[in-house]
Amino acid sequence: MKILVAYASKYGSTAEIAEVIGKELQKRNHQVEVQAVDHVDSLDGYDGFVIGSAVYAGSWIKSAAKFLRANQDILAGRPVWLFSSGPTGPGDPNEIMDGWTFPENLTAVREKINPKDIIFLHGKIDPDKLNFAERMIVKSVKATTGDYRDWLVIRGWAGKIDQDLKAG
Ligand SMILES: Cc1cc2nc3c(=O)[nH]c(=O)nc-3n(C[C@H](O)[C@H](O)[C@H](O)COP(=O)(O)O)c2cc1C
Repeated sequence: MKILVAYASKYGSTAEIAEVIGKELQKRNHQVEVQAVDHVDSLDGYDGFVIGSAVYAGSWIKSAAKFLRANQDILAGRPVWLFSSGPTGPGDPNEIMDGWTFPENLTAVREKINPKDIIFLHGKIDPDKLNFAERMIVKSVKATTGDYRDWLVIRGWAGKIDQDLKAG
């Protein structure tokens, strides 16, 4: 099947997650394109879509939110998997973020698209890359810094997408 993995990433860690999901699907014989949402020209010809964004202040990056809204009619008719990446520190991502699962301002779009699955994945904070305001936010909310992306979970989720695709 032909799959588009489309992502938004500010500092690159979500882009790397998208690449790994793409590689896992390729290993399972799917034809995969991995693209930043703002580089996607057309949704024509894809059998399925994996779409994700880093989370900043409880929201998806604007380009990803815009992509989901703009393409909701097409996406509603095809299989879609959504991921968000963000929480750092040990433990379940949803618990670290007090039960957050998906941006509230995308609830209507999410309901319309009716994705096969939604996952909230650990992310990475590299304080050296952040601007001053971001460093202050990270400090004030006492966020743990470091790379907490769990590649086993990410690869496992890609495997689940493959199973869903094969099950039709
Ligand atoms: C200023 C700031 C605000 C953040 N806000 C959230 C948030 O609200 N929820 C969350 O889960 N992660 C939050 N994060 C963590 C990022 O989502 C995480 O660093 C992510 O892996 C960044 O992805 P990127 O490298 O693709 O930009 C925040 C990080 C920064 C620096």
